[in-house]
Amino acid sequence: MKVLVIGSGGREHALAWKLAQSPLFDELIVAPGNAGMARCARLLTPTRFDPEGLLALAEEAGADLTVVGPEAPLVEGIADLFRSRGKLIVGPSRAAARLEGSKVFAKDCMRRWGVPTAEFRIACSFDDVRQALDFFGCPVVLKADGLAAGKGVVLADDRQEAERVAAAMLSGEFVGEAGRRLVIERRLQGEEVSFIVLTDGTRVLPLAPTQDHKAVYDGDRGPNTGGMGAYCDSRILTETETQQILDRIVYPVLEGMRAEGITFTGFLYAGLMITAEGPMVLEFNVRMGDPEAQPLVHRLESDLGEVLLELARGELRTQSLRWRPEPSVCVVLAAAGYPGTPRKGDLIAGVEEAEAAGAVVFHAGTRLGPRGLETASGRVLGVTASGVTLPEAIQRVYAAVSKIHFEGMHYRRDIGAKGLKRWAATVSEAPA
Ligand SMILES: Nc1ncnc2c1ncn2[C@@H]1O[C@H](COP(=O)(O)OP(=O)(O)O)[C@@H](O)[C@H]1O
Ligand SMILES: [Mg+2]
Repeated sequence: MKVLVIGSGGREHALAWKLAQSPLFDELIVAPGNAGMARCARLLTPTRFDPEGLLALAEEAGADLTVVGPEAPLVEGIADLFRSRGKLIVGPSRAAARLEGSKVFAKDCMRRWGVPTAEFRIACSFDDVRQALDFFGCPVVLKADGLAAGKGVVLADDRQEAERVAAAMLSGEFVGEAGRRLVIERRLQGEEVSFIVLTDGTRVLPLAPTQDHKAVYDGDRGPNTGGMGAYCDSRILTETETQQILDRIVYPVLEGMRAEGITFTGFLYAGLMITAEGPMVLEFNVRMGDPEAQPLVHRLESDLGEVLLELARGELRTQSLRWRPEPSVCVVLAAAGYPGTPRKGDLIAGVEEAEAAGAVVFHAGTRLGPRGLETASGRVLGVTASGVTLPEAIQRVYAAVSKIHFEGMHYRRDIGAKGLKRWAATVSEAPA
């Protein structure tokens, strides 16, 4: 069988790396891919990165199974188009993908289905904004309704800032059309967790919990990014918390969708805040997370290809996934200027040395230039390693990071640090 992965970031390299290990496939194709993926897959460049263009590419390449990395083609209906042509694809329909494509839709769904989330108001005009701010006070959270590549949410500390940002969203100046409607919601306190499941709409296969690091600087300071690193450790959630997330969030969403005639299949990603009142939803994504995919596939023992094939065929049969017990940590190396406009074309050195030090280096924004491997966008590489304990995994990943260099490279030095408290008491009696 031939499998096609759509996308070009660290998430897609991680998915491709794992699928390359599956005995089910004799060919792995990525479109458009990046320099790192060229090592495990055949790269094809789509002439158009929309559902029709990608369908043409999949048909020409003879792909038997297609796995979609990013959200945009899903929101545009790529899964519906492929299924209407009898082609196997992993991902939700356009109707189901609205859960990510519109934050207003997602919040309305959660209200209807009783899923715990921050109290909110929807604003279409500046009058609505003023009323919502009168109601909530500050600090408050402003969210552009539509897709904004991780740049559509602002945590405003005071009224002046909130009004300025809201006005810029409504006028289209902030994130274009995506901001013409916004969600204004109460700020929640707690620790964030990414809880991702595979589902055929009824059955659910939870992945191990992960924690992303959105802010550009250590200590969660500075502007938000697409994600500066993530770690995967079963200790992030207790069994009780996992059960609460399934019972109060995942199953009600799938049931709610079914009751409205929509079957959600693919990766369902719940971005959660674990508050004093229990887990609450910040947002849903309808695809695998990035960078979460990188530490996840690093720990996953089961054959991802088999599970994805079951999903594409509409029936998840696998009962549970096997994970290596060791935690894994991914540190994203970013280019000068990121998360603003990144500088491109800087030469990258030391990737092989980092791999010799025991890490897997997933590529994101890389390309092969005349002088060798160079930077091509904001998030450049994701260095991923595991260890018997979380402190050991952190130590190993940073030892590998120290081998890599490019001009202007920056990264967070505290990836995984929030998880250390869960090891503090038991690190001396770590599992063998
Ligand atoms: N209600 C909230 N309370 C506190 N922090 C929030 C809240 N909503 C979002 N955030 C913060 O903003 C980040 C981005 O928000 P999110 O809803 O995940 O949108 P997106 O990923 O589309 O930018 C979250 O990861 C979280 O750190
Ligand atoms: Mg998010």
